[in-house]
Amino acid sequence: MKGIILAGGSGTRLYPITKVYSKQLATIYDKPLIYYPLSILMLGGIKEILIISNDETIPLYQKLFGNGNHLGLQISYAVQDAPNGIAESFLIGEAFIGDDSVTLILGDNIFYGKLNYLYNALEEQNSGATIFAYRVKDPERYGIVQFDKEGNALSIEEKPKQPKSNFAVPGLYIYDNQVIEITKNLKPSARGELEITDVNKVYLSNKKLKVQMIGRGVAWLDTGTPEALLQASNFFGVIEDRQGLKVACLEEIAFKKGFINRTELENLIDEIPNSIYKSYLIKVLEE
Ligand code: G1P
Repeated sequence: MKGIILAGGSGTRLYPITKVYSKQLATIYDKPLIYYPLSILMLGGIKEILIISNDETIPLYQKLFGNGNHLGLQISYAVQDAPNGIAESFLIGEAFIGDDSVTLILGDNIFYGKLNYLYNALEEQNSGATIFAYRVKDPERYGIVQFDKEGNALSIEEKPKQPKSNFAVPGLYIYDNQVIEITKNLKPSARGELEITDVNKVYLSNKKLKVQMIGRGVAWLDTGTPEALLQASNFFGVIEDRQGLKVACLEEIAFKKGFINRTELENLIDEIPNSIYKSYLIKVLEE
């Protein structure tokens, strides 16, 4: 299973935060936004990861993560020249995906809470696609899935004016290798993008789409506006302060998942400047 993080988009709603750097580098409490989606891929056991962004921002991600080897990962980078849509990830990442399956996560999507929905989906993945559904109060802003009484997906629509349900499709998708061919046959939408919703529609009409519900005990947070950024920061500030544990601490996850050993974590800690983050990792080692 390969992993792709799409960290594109112009983030215009966050201007001027996004005037000099991309939205996925904005701060969520004590770390850059992109740490959160990267942590989800790592927790899912995915170690080969492609980060897609624009050519201006890629050097910044490279500074942040390098080749990922220090975290037991193999991180590579690719450019999306223009905002041509989420599904373009599979064309840009074709060589990277090779013959494998792929999990795509959007670089601005934050998930918090038990990840059983993801673990189950990754475990069961063989052919077809798995997407997720999460209840929201403003369905017109998302891809929306409609279910029948038995819980089977009936339709998926991108940002419908009259949504048929309150179940949004979060930016986390698992596909078999067919996704590359399916994307090659897509036509750009009215807004000129290769829509991820159109990919999902093809899987749905081929009866190859699983839609897994994410329950209310999980938080899927929005990061599209200054208010949403502040809310997400406060959310993680409260949790980290209460538990004395960090969310999306990549070095800790790499260590606990066995991607790196104790000596490797010690070496990493040595390179981190004196900070709360460093003290936290020293505590992780000692515990
Ligand atoms: C995209 C997708 C949409 C999905 C959303 C999740 O929308 O097109 O289907 O529900 O991500 O974050 P965007 O945020 O790019 O407008």
